[in-house]
Amino acid sequence: MSVTEEVFQKRLQKHHDELRWLYMELYKNNDMFGELSSQLYEYFMQRSQSLKDLDAVREKEPDWYKKNDILGMMMYIDNFAGNLKGVESKLDYLKECQVNYIHLMPFLDTPKGRSDGGYAVSDFRKVQPELGTMEDLESLTQSCHEKGINVCMDFVMNHTSEDHEWAVRARRGEGEYMGRYFFYDNYSIPAEYEKTVPQVFPTTAPGNFTWLQEAGHFVMTTFYPYQWDLNYQNPRVFNEMVYNFLYLANKGIDVMRIDAVPYIWKELGTDCRNLPQVHTIVRMMRMICEIVCPGVLLLGEVVMEPEKVVPYFGTVDKPECHMLYNVTTMATTWHSVATRDVRLLKLQMEIVSRLPKEYVFLNYLRCHDDIGWGLDYVWLMQFGIGEVSHKKYLNDFLTGQIPDSFARGELYNSDPTSGDARLCGTTASLCGIEKAAYEGNEAALEQAVKLDLMLHAYMLTQSGIPVIYSGDEVGQQNDYSYHNEPDRWGDSRYLHRGKFQWDLAGRRADKGSVQEKLFTGINQLENIRKSHTVFDTNADVWVFDTWDDAVLGIVRAHGNEKLAALFNFSEFNKTVHLDEDGGRYTDLISGRKVEGAELDMPGYGVNWLLKK
Ligand code: GLC
Repeated sequence: MSVTEEVFQKRLQKHHDELRWLYMELYKNNDMFGELSSQLYEYFMQRSQSLKDLDAVREKEPDWYKKNDILGMMMYIDNFAGNLKGVESKLDYLKECQVNYIHLMPFLDTPKGRSDGGYAVSDFRKVQPELGTMEDLESLTQSCHEKGINVCMDFVMNHTSEDHEWAVRARRGEGEYMGRYFFYDNYSIPAEYEKTVPQVFPTTAPGNFTWLQEAGHFVMTTFYPYQWDLNYQNPRVFNEMVYNFLYLANKGIDVMRIDAVPYIWKELGTDCRNLPQVHTIVRMMRMICEIVCPGVLLLGEVVMEPEKVVPYFGTVDKPECHMLYNVTTMATTWHSVATRDVRLLKLQMEIVSRLPKEYVFLNYLRCHDDIGWGLDYVWLMQFGIGEVSHKKYLNDFLTGQIPDSFARGELYNSDPTSGDARLCGTTASLCGIEKAAYEGNEAALEQAVKLDLMLHAYMLTQSGIPVIYSGDEVGQQNDYSYHNEPDRWGDSRYLHRGKFQWDLAGRRADKGSVQEKLFTGINQLENIRKSHTVFDTNADVWVFDTWDDAVLGIVRAHGNEKLAALFNFSEFNKTVHLDEDGGRYTDLISGRKVEGAELDMPGYGVNWLLKK
């Protein structure tokens, strides 16, 4: 046996029994398991030597992504730089942003006008022609690796586009392919599902099934009608999707974002979310990664309440995802902005900081999707704050409907029957930069920039990997042009998915400009973060009482370092109570020395006080 083969066999042996057990439990199909095993070896052999070397390094240092030095950025390739080659030519800008993790939004082939932002994949092995080729992708990931940048991509596993070859053949009536989706020749079973399965897009794509006239069948479509749910009860689907996954991993991808993962298993009579079989599949994928490409991380897209999210980490012995989105913290942050009240955010921080440190969260202020109001309404109810009225307040505030509100957002999937709606907008526009700039109000603009920076500082204070949305680093505002584009006007998420404005970025060196304040501000925060180990994921974290409901206080402690971080979520000056025992501190941001048990803070102020 060659040395390379030995490496594979050793990894396989470690996981073989558990993998086989889970596979047989789900599929009871020995032949298909045999095929899977031999394909794992094929994909391992096809992996380039440089990726195998990286795997070996990361296997020796499995905590490589848990330090305080990873800063992420997410971007659409066309918006940022036209195509993959364009992104490759802009890596110096990313380095200047100190970014060493990029999430390239969906770039695989997808039909125009029926793409859901690329989340309807018609070919898992082809790049959208306008964006380039698989060779361009490989070249980009190689250049990124040379510069120490990790690359993340989406693996859209719940569904394919209706233009995917399997869907095309299923529509033609080929049984083999119909069996890879959920096809019904009458509405009786779909009707049963509709009784228990909630809606993802209640207004933009109501219902969970679509009638296919020419096929004379209904097909399950949890998301848009052109996104056909894959049937993971069919081992052929699982195997083929694993091969697609490994093919893409071998192009040099470091982080696979498994899209909409809670939805992948369907069972009549359930809500078809987070079923136990989903965890079996994710656990198998984790083991498959560890066998074929242990340098690759799984990032689960689980946009659910905390008790549903955390199980996707698996257990310490049987891990599933390496990383998950800190979605409730994100939503609660905007609740705090709109209410100037941090009590719920404090509770949320307490919950997160009590979790095992092995669990790594991806922290963000906003992403390409809407902000859904998944808050702890049971807790809010003790103050008489009801779910429907509170969502209405948040949406009114953040869309600028309330007098004196500074935010400029738009509603998403506003459902008049339930009164429910979610929210869209860029960070800058939600923080008031758009309104203040439009009105030429200098004082308001200054305040908006302070709020924006304070929120970024808060994001960088949390344990895990912070991810900036491309353009937020220079305060990019909402893009209303989608209102005039028939392919997009029904989906307000395009409001915050505008083209990256290089002219704005060009002003990042103009002293006193909004762009310079934000860009240098965030850069300074990141410099501090990566030079102090208190920001390590392994640090102890707890919240403390500042004696003011508008000001959040967080302590981070690691080795000999202790940091008290304070965030004023209101526009008012505050005098707050410091860390439990008071003392002498240096503010890492301003360099100011602070002594005693109280601190004066300006509106939207932030302090990172290092204890001496
Ligand atoms: C994920 C994506 C979202 C997309 C959906 C369907 O939630 O983030 O943009 O609409 O999956 O694939």
